Amino acid sequence: MGHLLTRIKYCLIYKVGVHFPDRRVRVWALRALGYEVGEGTYFADDLVITLAYANRGRLRLGRRVAIGPGCILVLTAHANNSKVKQQLTEKERWITIEDDVWLGAGVIVLPEVTIGEGAVIGAGSVVTKDVPAHCVAVGNPARVIKKVGE
Ligand SMILES: CC(C)(COP(=O)(O)OP(=O)(O)OC[C@H]1O[C@@H](n2cnc3c(N)ncnc32)[C@H](O)[C@@H]1OP(=O)(O)O)[C@@H](O)C(=O)NCCC(=O)NCCS
Repeated sequence: MGHLLTRIKYCLIYKVGVHFPDRRVRVWALRALGYEVGEGTYFADDLVITLAYANRGRLRLGRRVAIGPGCILVLTAHANNSKVKQQLTEKERWITIEDDVWLGAGVIVLPEVTIGEGAVIGAGSVVTKDVPAHCVAVGNPARVIKKVGE
């Protein structure tokens, strides 16, 4: 029973808090879920974090990170009841997004990825591997096309 109530609590914090219209409440909710969120970080009210309430503490957002609308942070790779599950490696790892990163609209970040300080990820990109600091990466899979400011 205690386990179920805890699950409901974290589910509500995610469903209501992380999507609340006020940014300060959203930041509070992410921290209440055990994630690191640096000062000045902004994320849109439609941010999706896969299984956020079951994967508490597996996300680090640095300072002044900017996350545009429609982004998805994929913390898990589980195929649920599908038979393909037996052929795939299950992942439940960290995502780290360092200081001053900007994720454009609709970016998807896969598990085990670190996006380096000050990097920019173009709208609609799928980030499958680490992105070095101060680089612009775009596309699916996201590839570095230049340094920021070039
Ligand atoms: C990534 C981004 C910042 C790059 O802007 P930029 O430095 O002005 O780059 P350019 O527009 O000159 O594009 C450079 C190349 O990357 C390509 N490119 C740019 N953004 C891309 C994207 N999101 N996906 C795929 N390719 C992209 C361009 O087509 C261009 O290719 P080319 O050299 O073959 O012509 C910008 O394109 C972007 O995606 N911004 C996000 C905006 C957004 O999501 N706003 C809402 C949230 S706040």
